[in-house]
Amino acid sequence: MTLFARARHGILPTFAALLTLGLVQAGLAEEHRVTGEAPGAFVVEDGKVDPDTYEGYLIYTRVCMACHGPDGLGSSFAPNLVRAVERRGWENFAGTIASGREVQPGQVMPSFADDPNVMGNIPKIFSYLRARGEGGLGRGRPEIIESMQEPDAKSDANGVAGEQEAEAAEEANAE
Ligand code: HEC
Repeated sequence: MTLFARARHGILPTFAALLTLGLVQAGLAEEHRVTGEAPGAFVVEDGKVDPDTYEGYLIYTRVCMACHGPDGLGSSFAPNLVRAVERRGWENFAGTIASGREVQPGQVMPSFADDPNVMGNIPKIFSYLRARGEGGLGRGRPEIIESMQEPDAKSDANGVAGEQEAEAAEEANAE
């Protein structure tokens, strides 16, 4: 199965811009074809993904998995996020990460407003979770589609260091 998407958005200047763009683009997804510069764009091709979706996996695994469980599937403590993005959409997703949430007393979703690595990468986390749901992406660490490999990926903030941290998180979880 091949899903086409333009995942070429850079990091947008402000969080407000991300929200606005998300609102404009929210209605454009059609079946398994995700087009435009929307947050949440992704490509899944034979179980492999575009580089942004891959980074979304790394950040999810490093930052969110401890509470939300491996592969976005939820835990006894925090909800399934693959389903949450399908139900709630971009604006709600990004808003929850920025503001945090506590509906059930004691079950706290922390605010990541002070964590630029998370705030600047919410669209990539969103892409990963949509790829897991709509995109039919399987569990575990995906590979990057060869033709989309970015030669400078290693110098990226989420390059080698990000992979090592994600690996450590994966291993801690497997124990
Ligand atoms: C310390 C544990 C913890 C961490 C870390 C955490 N979450 Fe949460 N999250 C929660 C809990 C608990 C809830 C449920 C809160 C409630 O509904 O009262 C939640 C809820 C959410 C929701 C709303 C889900 C829904 O059903 O509407 C989203 C979206 C979300 N988290 C995204 C994330 C993302 C993305 C990350 C990583 C950047 C993350 N969370 C990291 C604990 C956590």
